[in-house]
Amino acid sequence: MQKKWWHGKTAYQIYPKSFLDTNGDGIGDLRGIISKLDYLKDLGVDIVWLSPIYVSPLADQGYDIADYYNIDPRFGTMEDMDELLSEAKKRDMYILMDLVVNHCSDEHEWFKKACEDPDGPYGKFFYIKDIVDGKYPCNWRSYFGGPVWEPLPGHPDKCYLHVFHKKQPDLNWENPALREEVYKMINWWLDKGLAGFRIDAIINIKKALPFRDYPADRDDGLSDIGKMLHEAKGVGEFLGEMRDRCFKPHDAFTVGEVFNEKAEELPDFIGDNGYFSTMFDFAETVFGGSQAGWHEASGCSPDDYRNCVFGTQKKIGDIGYISNIIENHDEPRGVSRYIPEGEATVTAKKLLATVYFNVKGLPWIYQGQEIGMENIPVSSIDEVDDISSIDNYKVALEAGVAPETALHFVEMYGRDNARTPFQWTSGENAGFTTGTPWLRVNPNKSEINLADEQADPDSLFNYYKKLIALRKSPEYAETLVYGGFEPYLADVPRVMAYFREGADKRLLILANYQKEARELPLPEGERKAVLSNLPEVGFTESGVFLEGYQAVILEI
Ligand code: NOJ
Repeated sequence: MQKKWWHGKTAYQIYPKSFLDTNGDGIGDLRGIISKLDYLKDLGVDIVWLSPIYVSPLADQGYDIADYYNIDPRFGTMEDMDELLSEAKKRDMYILMDLVVNHCSDEHEWFKKACEDPDGPYGKFFYIKDIVDGKYPCNWRSYFGGPVWEPLPGHPDKCYLHVFHKKQPDLNWENPALREEVYKMINWWLDKGLAGFRIDAIINIKKALPFRDYPADRDDGLSDIGKMLHEAKGVGEFLGEMRDRCFKPHDAFTVGEVFNEKAEELPDFIGDNGYFSTMFDFAETVFGGSQAGWHEASGCSPDDYRNCVFGTQKKIGDIGYISNIIENHDEPRGVSRYIPEGEATVTAKKLLATVYFNVKGLPWIYQGQEIGMENIPVSSIDEVDDISSIDNYKVALEAGVAPETALHFVEMYGRDNARTPFQWTSGENAGFTTGTPWLRVNPNKSEINLADEQADPDSLFNYYKKLIALRKSPEYAETLVYGGFEPYLADVPRVMAYFREGADKRLLILANYQKEARELPLPEGERKAVLSNLPEVGFTESGVFLEGYQAVILEI
């Protein structure tokens, strides 16, 4: 694997709508982000990914873009964006935008023109088909529920494809004219000084054609779209072209949202000449999921979590550099998911931070993760914004699940969990806005907020700063960034431990992933405690005594 400038960096995801509102409209904005660049720099962040801020009706919170060349006025102006880019540059920080090109918004002018003239050039930017004998071209289920087809406005005998929401028509990548438009837009942003992109839902750009039915997997007669994606061949041709036409000439940094890739394809995706610089590891994110819906999901225990992370490390080896997360804007909070219920103390949160942050790869922090933000309680489906939660709730009720239980699954897996406003203070609206927040603030803001954690040397926030500083320290950077990965005690329940072996140092990351204290063995030889989430490290003759949820980094 070739070394790259970004390998030793720390990346951070901002969900702009919920980060910081500076004009009192209850929606976070670019000026809020600019005002917090020093905060991020101080934390140790280098690369910042902004979830979409383009003009959008926000049917899917900006992942439905109506104009790729402009900023939505709710988030600010192009001048604000230019200022953000130049202020980031002054601080040696890199800004990434979200590249959402599997689909656009039904309010994009391309789609409006396609509706006016389905047989014209813009009709070919989309998948528009005839409805024959009242039947759609195939029975795929959209990610947000219901068929992937919707009647084309103004043409009751035609329909268009949307694998996500009906307000997100899929772009037809088979059409070279569409691809040209996409590349032009990407290059326009990169020429402006953007460092690169996080690339949304990209595997979906290749459809298995011609459209056909797959065996239904629910009573709705529809089929999970995964079956089609498994069959679709040739996405690499589009991705390679996009790399060569856009990313390579700009030396852009890109991180792909890639699910279900096949192991043999990894070098194509993130090898030295990969389509992307890196991609997210979603092994633990998808673990335990069910095609039937959230009500059939089985959760991810600490041992499952460890096995997923280790599985990815083994699979990637030296092929490329993976991106590691515990949460993002589509997932519940990592501390609520990977720490068993009732056990998410500050110590346990520090343990989770320690184990995910130090495996090989680029560590990402999602906004609020650094202060330990948790899932939010839900008392009624009416207070939920997330379209995916609303669909899963409906699916659970249809499957006969009791309403309270269905709501519980929304609490566990819903996307609102990660989207509640950032908790800056314990004050009104957690310091996020002086207006009415677009999404409710987590009532735990009095216990979990940045202001209190900044003042407390033992806080999770200050622990994250230590983890980042350690990964960048002249002493340990080489080992933590490039050192080999070797599991340790991988068969012992509720232990997550691994070596990172560099050119001249060997580190052991050892975590007692349970509330009971215990002694764990250590390899023979010298040992030095480099970092611990608790004040004392109790070395014994043959090992180390760890308190419940204690995690240590030892030099061995
Ligand atoms: C993945 C994004 O992360 C998610 O928020 C969005 O709903 C879908 N892609 C569709 O763009």
